[in-house]
Formats: sequence, C-alpha cells, structure tokens
Amino acid sequence: MDAPNGSQDTEQTLDSQVKAFFDSAPPLQNMNDIIQKLNHFIQLNSLSSENGIGRRIVCVTSGGTTAPLEQRCVRYVDNFSSGHRGATSTEYFLKAGYAVIFLYRRGSFQPFCRSLPDDPLLECFEAFEGLNIQVREAYSKALKTAIVDHHAAVASGLLLKLPFSTIFEYLQMLQIISKPMKDIGPRAMFYLAAAVSDFYVPWKDMVEHKIQSGSHILDVKLVQVPKMLSVLRKDWAPLAFCISFKLETDSNILLNKARGALEKYNMHAVVANELSTRKEQVVVVTIDDKITVQRDKSKADDDVENPLIKLLSQRHSAYIEDSKRTR
Ligand code: PMT
Repeated sequence: MDAPNGSQDTEQTLDSQVKAFFDSAPPLQNMNDIIQKLNHFIQLNSLSSENGIGRRIVCVTSGGTTAPLEQRCVRYVDNFSSGHRGATSTEYFLKAGYAVIFLYRRGSFQPFCRSLPDDPLLECFEAFEGLNIQVREAYSKALKTAIVDHHAAVASGLLLKLPFSTIFEYLQMLQIISKPMKDIGPRAMFYLAAAVSDFYVPWKDMVEHKIQSGSHILDVKLVQVPKMLSVLRKDWAPLAFCISFKLETDSNILLNKARGALEKYNMHAVVANELSTRKEQVVVVTIDDKITVQRDKSKADDDVENPLIKLLSQRHSAYIEDSKRTR
C-alpha cells in the first residue's frame, strides 16, 4: 500500500534504514558488562545530589567512528576528530556538577590528560640505575593533577568511560546508553561531539578477509548511515536535552547548515564550528538565538569549552524547570 503522505514515507524509510543497520551490525562483545556499568552509574547519580532530585547526567560523545571495509579488519574509512572537544568538555561538565558518560574513540584525547605530552609514559618519567624510575620535574605538576583529578572523578562515580572504534559499536552503545537515560527524563543531556561516519559497508556485504591489492580499482559499495539524531530525539530519549554539532570548512555555509540540522533533527541546540577556528570560537544555534562563544584570549590556558559548557548548563537548567511547569 502507498504511504498517504511524504513525511510518513520518509519515516518508514528511516525506520527500515535503522532496522537494516542494527540487523547488519556484529553484536557488541561486552554488552552485558556495559549495561551493568551503566545501570549502576545512573542509579548512583540519581540518588545523590545537592537538591535531592538527582544529579544531571550528560553523555558526551567524542572522537571519530571508523567504517571497516573487511570483517577481519585491516582497512577502514576514518572520520576526523582528535577527541579534544569531547575530553575538554567532559572536564567542564564535571566542574559544572554533572555526572558524565564519556563515549570515546579508543586512542583519542582523554579528560585531564590535555597538558601531558604525546607519549606521557616515555616523556614524563626518567629511569636511573636499577629499577629507580622518577617523574621528570618539568611534568610533575601536570602529571599529579591529571592523576588526582581523574581518579577523583572515577572513584566518586561521576565519570564512566566507554570506548568504541567502529560505527557499529558507536551506534549500538549510543542506543544502549539512551535506555537508562530515557528513564531520568529532562535531567539527561546528550552532547554529540563525535564525528560519525556518513557511509558504511553493511556487515553481511563485507568481505571476510583482507582485500587483495591486485586490481587498480577498489570497488566497494558504501551505504548511507541512517541519521540517528532524529531517532534519539523521537524514540530513544525524547525528554533528554540534545546538543549536536555542525562542522564545516567553509564559514559561509556553516550557520545555515547548523540551522538546518536544528530544525531537521529537532535538536535543542546545534554547536556550529569551523575547522580552523574550532578551538577559539563556536556559535550556539537555538530556535531563537545565535550566540557566539569565544575563548578568553587574555588567559593562556582558557578553553572555548569553558564558556560553552556554562551556557549549555544554564540552558539545560531552564529546560528542566520548564519541563516541571508543563508536566
Ligand atoms: O575532536 P576535535 O579534534 O576537538 O574536533 C571537534 C569536532 C570538530 C569533531 C567537533 O566539534 C564536531 O564538530 N563534531 C561533529 C562533526 C561531524 O561529524 O558533524 P556531522 O555533520 O557529520 O554530524 C552532525 C551531527 O550528527 C553530529 O553531532 C554527529 O554526532 C551526528 N550524526 C552524524 C552522522 C550520523 N549518521 N548520525 C549522527 O547522529
């Protein structure tokens, strides 16, 4: 039977794309372990808070997803993101009183480790005769702060770190996270800074072994990844406060694209950033505002995420209050 109108048609197409994606995904290896950790984390942070109604919980996604080309993967298509935005934002969310689920790409930047050198293990320590290993003076303060702050956040149950590599892992984990997040209603926030693959090879169409390099042309068919933002908003966690990102290299189209994403996916805000200036400035696009947020350049160690998270936290508080009134 024909769909009576275009929007239902599109919805059916999205639903079937979503189903096809999850049907084709190889099951998560440690799914039960992840579910257990998540339930414990959300329960813990729903009991404890300053105001007696439970702490606000944010899921920060960070880093790029890969789309594998072979089942026993040697080659993959990657997405640009160092994970700096997600890791830095996590630190500021913790400062603002949130509990954070940090869904991150393996090997990307980690919270509290930004001031450490690229290879901390080899660069922060020096070895003396015998087994005597000591911290180099130049790194001792940064290393101590990183270890103490990280340990405090994890040990007090405020930071849960969950790693992914592939688009299959990422979207399955996002779906799993959204289940207990749905139960806490407007107290939940999704801050989707990860750079998510737009195309993937469905698992059942993927060759098992390493593709041989004999031919001059690599003929691989990639299928569009369904935009899960609308599914997240509509079905997975409809009451959660949702922030997505828009990255462009051409500043002339950035704000229009962000506005388009805001409306199309019904986001509460879209953070628009241009590749070359992303650490200095972003624009927060909402239904009735476009707010430019900048790093305080007079302070050498200030980050654009500092005012950004302050703004989003305020907007989230207003959203929670609003939800109470309209309930
Ligand atoms: O990590 P850094 O080096 O610090 O850089 C940070 C950043 C530039 C990567 C970050 O600030 C950023 O802009 N992240 C989103 C980049 C992106 O891939 O945008 P997009 O236009 O492809 O996706 C837009 C939004 O839709 C994103 O929030 C994404 O998480 C989401 N998405 C995308 C594809 C898809 N199939 N499903 C999705 O939900």
